[in-house]
Amino acid sequence: DEDNSIKKCNKKDVDGPVYIGREEDLKKQRTTARINDREIVVLYHDGNFYAMDCRCYHAGGPLHLGEIEDINGQACIICPWHKYKITLATGEGLYQAVNPREPSVTPKWQSKGVKQRTHHVTVESGNVYVTLSDTADSIDSDYYAEKTINTSLKK
Ligand code: FES
Repeated sequence: DEDNSIKKCNKKDVDGPVYIGREEDLKKQRTTARINDREIVVLYHDGNFYAMDCRCYHAGGPLHLGEIEDINGQACIICPWHKYKITLATGEGLYQAVNPREPSVTPKWQSKGVKQRTHHVTVESGNVYVTLSDTADSIDSDYYAEKTINTSLKK
């Protein structure tokens, strides 16, 4: 009966907040976590916590290794693989629109819409929690989130 004390934890159906770590630690260093077999990155930038799918919607690049840049007043993570820019707050893909008929015009940043699934971060008593996004809409990054199940993130 030695196994009786071991509780099998089925994390498949966690839909509430999941503890990620201490606020003070996560402010210093971003982290990755796996919730319901989904790899996410949790990071702190400019006074706010953000969480999103870790694998870039374009080709699965490791967003947890990306630099953060301000683009048009929006904090974006820059995918290290092909430099796609993704807003931290909404997961929108940004691109620079160029009109070939008016090449003198400075390219404008535009949104391709939500491409990367973002998740909800809450902080309570110095603890940081993430609640997975529950929107039923399919988002491009879902493809890689599901594909990377059972593989671990490589640096
Ligand atoms: Fe992220 Fe290509 S995989 S930009």
